[in-house]
Amino acid sequence: MQTVTLIPGDGIGPEITKAVVKILEEAGAQIEWDIQTAGADVALKEGTPLPDRVIDSIRKNKVALKAPVTTPIGKGFRSVNVALRKSLDLYANLRPCKNIEGIQTKFNNINIVIVRENTEDLYAGIERKIDEDTAESIKIITRKASLRIAEFAFEYALKNNRKLVTSVSKANICKLTDGLFLECTRKISEKYPQIEYKEILVDNLCMQLVQNPEKFDVLVLPNLYGDIVSDLCAGLIGGLGVAQGANIGKDAAVFEPVHGSAPDIKGQNKANPTALLLSAIEMLKYMGQDNIAVKIEKALYETIKTRVCLTADLGGQASTEGFTREIINNLR
Ligand code: NAI
Repeated sequence: MQTVTLIPGDGIGPEITKAVVKILEEAGAQIEWDIQTAGADVALKEGTPLPDRVIDSIRKNKVALKAPVTTPIGKGFRSVNVALRKSLDLYANLRPCKNIEGIQTKFNNINIVIVRENTEDLYAGIERKIDEDTAESIKIITRKASLRIAEFAFEYALKNNRKLVTSVSKANICKLTDGLFLECTRKISEKYPQIEYKEILVDNLCMQLVQNPEKFDVLVLPNLYGDIVSDLCAGLIGGLGVAQGANIGKDAAVFEPVHGSAPDIKGQNKANPTALLLSAIEMLKYMGQDNIAVKIEKALYETIKTRVCLTADLGGQASTEGFTREIINNLR
């Protein structure tokens, strides 16, 4: 048994967490959950949305599975997600995006991996109001963070037999910040002659992703572009309900879906647990429980392929619970 921190989040978080915990249990995963709540309700009770006990638990267990946590828009507390990634120095946000058989999309050969820098850029949260009508936000890019995310992207490409790493920036406009990011990815690329290296501006990338997404392999991006392009790529493979992710650092890893807390469908037994389940499957592989991971993966893919019991976002009529039961029935 290995202890894993579990953050059920809010919005649809608790519903999809319940589904995923049940599937992992039925599949025989060797996990003991250390449940840690975070978010708005916790802030009311404990005075902060991200109490130290959550960070301490992840530091101790080194692995966490996290459902989404709501961040108030335009006001209120700082994002729990950003704070968590920063406190634990989870510098690499890894978001694989691959077609799943049974989900109809415009393109069929998508196999992109997004490597998003996770600790700086405009997410540093350094903002101020200059006067009533003017506000500014500071974009921070450092050599240290850019070199290590580039290294992570190339190492990932090497270990996973990937052929191409594309560095994404807006260095024509943000000459100093994105210029530094680009300088760093270019420098690291020289250490990996066996992997092709290309550079692209983020606006052009977005256009090409919706025209020829098959051309792309590993993308390495600063934080904000990585966030936006991840949702774009999720749309290419069937939507946020199926887009998995992981935040990886030197000492800990937090596995979580790309999507947010989806308040529009909260509590309606409609949410698709696939993105969190795929994130949990990656977590099991990371923990060395490969057999269980593969067993769940097969059951999930079979469930989606047959299309008899899918959630609404995938064109079906099943509830979260119905879809979960079907995956459990397909476990063998
Ligand atoms: P969202 O990702 O929660 O939802 C966007 C759209 O996708 C909605 O229509 C939603 O119903 C749908 N959707 C998302 N996940 C789904 C699923 N599993 N099954 C079916 N449909 C799904 O993005 P939104 O609405 O912009 O953000 C809501 C809240 O989530 C915000 O407070 C935001 O800050 C937070 N958020 C948290 C993240 C995290 O915890 N890592 C990541 C992104 C957003």
